[in-house]
Amino acid sequence: MDSRNGSVSEAPLDAEIESFFDSAPPLKDRAGIIKKLKEFIEYNSTPPGKGSPRRVVCVTSGGTTVPLEQRCVRYIDNFSSGHRGATSTEYFIKAGYAVIFLYRRGTFQPYCQSLPEDPLLECFECSDDSTIQVRQPHTEAVKRAVSDHHAAIAGGHLLKLSFTTIFEYLQILQSIAMSMKDLGSLAVFYLAAAVSDFYVPWKSMAEHKIQSASGPLDMRLVQVPKMLSALKKEWAPMAFCISFKLETDSKILLEKAEMALKKYRMHMVVANELSTRKEEVTVVTGNEKILVCRDKTQADSDVEEPLIELIVGRHSAYVKDSDL
Ligand code: PMT
Repeated sequence: MDSRNGSVSEAPLDAEIESFFDSAPPLKDRAGIIKKLKEFIEYNSTPPGKGSPRRVVCVTSGGTTVPLEQRCVRYIDNFSSGHRGATSTEYFIKAGYAVIFLYRRGTFQPYCQSLPEDPLLECFECSDDSTIQVRQPHTEAVKRAVSDHHAAIAGGHLLKLSFTTIFEYLQILQSIAMSMKDLGSLAVFYLAAAVSDFYVPWKSMAEHKIQSASGPLDMRLVQVPKMLSALKKEWAPMAFCISFKLETDSKILLEKAEMALKKYRMHMVVANELSTRKEEVTVVTGNEKILVCRDKTQADSDVEEPLIELIVGRHSAYVKDSDL
């Protein structure tokens, strides 16, 4: 038994994590991903001129899928539009952080909030001389999105990596965490992605499309090991870690967030309820529960603005304490 939480012993958990990675399909372009991470982290740790090293945050965003077939036709999905992760990324960059944005393909992207749903088709038109131009009334929004996005990428402060399946997500998260290990307390994990709790192990998965003629489907899903403990214990032990807790029943939300804080030794857990998640969240720490609300006097305000402000303050105090 683990004396800290009274439930899970450490050895079997590590074995579960090892077996998850051993049985996962190999990550495409792992070497390329690791190279990009190394360059991004090096660049932000030793900026040109006399600048001090930037803090680096890994923001995870969107939901993971669980494939049911190796040549996947069907999959189980997790709800998350990616709005929280994308918007938080903008505020972290504004606060001077370098961001590794690990996102689900097809979900919300930073700096695109004020664009229509299908920006390419709705914002642009072909003029008579076959050049492409921005249509009114989208000109200002497109200009702002393009210039802010360009500034973040060209300045070397935003690295985007994408995933779809739970296998890709966890393998990339591990690579990111191990690349960030040497940043010590300057590293932050902001884990807003909705991660699958159950999966079909690759080796026991059907190769081809499951046939409906075979009758009702009987399938065994096994538990995805919680990676938060591996992250804290081995991958990046000095990093400042923020996890999320989403519930639809407000009566159990704070209790579950407190449990997660203690069990995985997170620095903060952001508790949110599905229906009010864009209005308010409660940040649970070792001795506080802080309600964070968006500024309701401003129509286009985000709850992420005060949330990131709070996190940056707490992270600064953590960095200072770690230096003593
Ligand atoms: O994207 P939006 O539409 O804007 O919505 C944002 C959000 C509601 C998705 C976001 O604010 C949020 O709450 N994300 C976490 C949702 C969730 O499903 O939590 P969970 O209970 O599955 O996981 C809790 C924590 O454990 C997460 O930080 C997750 O990264 C981590 N986890 C989960 C499963 C697993 N096997 N390993 C993990 O480490």
